[in-house]
Amino acid sequence: MATLSPSKKKSNKRSSNSRYSQNMDSSSSSLFNCTRKYLLFAPFVAFVLVVLYVKRETPESMNFVVPTAEICSVEVVNEFPHDPKAFTQGLLYGGNDTLFESTGLYGKSSVRQVVLQTGKVEVLQEMNSRYFGEGLTLFGDRLFQVTWLKNTGFIYDRHNLSKYEKFNHQMPDGWGLATDGQVLFGSDGSSILYQLDPSTLKVIGKATVKYKGHMVHNLNELEYVNGEVWANVWQTDCIARISPKDGIVVGWIVLPELRQRLLRHESEFQEIGSIDVLNGIAWDEENGRLFVTGKQWPKLYEIKLHPIKGPFVGSIERLCLRRPFISQSHRFTHPKEINA
Ligand SMILES: *[C@@H]1O[C@H](CO)[C@@H](O)[C@H](O)[C@H]1NC(C)=O
Ligand SMILES: *[C@@H]1O[C@H](CO)[C@@H](O)[C@H](O)[C@H]1NC(C)=O
Repeated sequence: MATLSPSKKKSNKRSSNSRYSQNMDSSSSSLFNCTRKYLLFAPFVAFVLVVLYVKRETPESMNFVVPTAEICSVEVVNEFPHDPKAFTQGLLYGGNDTLFESTGLYGKSSVRQVVLQTGKVEVLQEMNSRYFGEGLTLFGDRLFQVTWLKNTGFIYDRHNLSKYEKFNHQMPDGWGLATDGQVLFGSDGSSILYQLDPSTLKVIGKATVKYKGHMVHNLNELEYVNGEVWANVWQTDCIARISPKDGIVVGWIVLPELRQRLLRHESEFQEIGSIDVLNGIAWDEENGRLFVTGKQWPKLYEIKLHPIKGPFVGSIERLCLRRPFISQSHRFTHPKEINA
């Protein structure tokens, strides 16, 4: 069967080809005349096609494109107010111009529902002062949150942020959370990207995150974007784009200008605490909008990515890689506050 069918196809093709060429022969002279006439319009037609193609690539549709380039810089396309007292540890887009956010610091930790355009906190769930809120993700109708230096996490109802239950997970610490709708991805400040079963919270997979053979330490807030896990690298202005299959970093987003811009205008925000590091990525998949903010940043930015072409000034190693943060030895000294 297998050897018969290709030759059968081939002969069919040949016969149809010869039929086609017969037709061509009979009408070729008139066809040629027509073509010659239309050839005069070819440059015009080409121009129209180019215009149509360029028009298709308007800013709206460009938003949907995640460049494949290894290194991207950002352009701010919108800025929105952000609660400058929010020590952002988890951020996600919940649809309908709504964000969900988890904030840290003892006595100030919370889960909140925030209006994108105004930054107004619509629903607030304050946490017990024993807990330091960390990563947050939305799985179905439930928000999962982890806490710093503890294996304790919480599940909330997305509609009113009422607490469903407390859970324990198996990561050594809780820093970031994200989901692809199947599993939860977790980070604990090390270079490990964990996969957790959302129903049992058991660790079902682990990958060491690496860039050109270097381990990428201090993985913090996470977001799932187009098949990749994006991670803020703590104490840097870099977002690592990680392949969840093997932990390989497939690209970087470098955005030092956002924090620098805020620091330049810090006097305008003087009533607030100090502007801390970039932390918080939210992806609106439906509309292709990407948002970022930071700890105690008075702004949340909608950004677009632009590939950096040619040699990159300032190596990724220097900008984005840090020595490992040793959670155990810093236990109870609250280094995140000290380093604020
Ligand atoms: C979207 O948000 C607006 C304003 O907060 C609210 O009135 C509306 O009911 C929401 N729509 C959905 C589908 O949740
Ligand atoms: C929150 O919403 C859920 C349904 O989504 C409901 O069962 C629960 O009673 C609500 N809790 C509060 C405090 O309103």
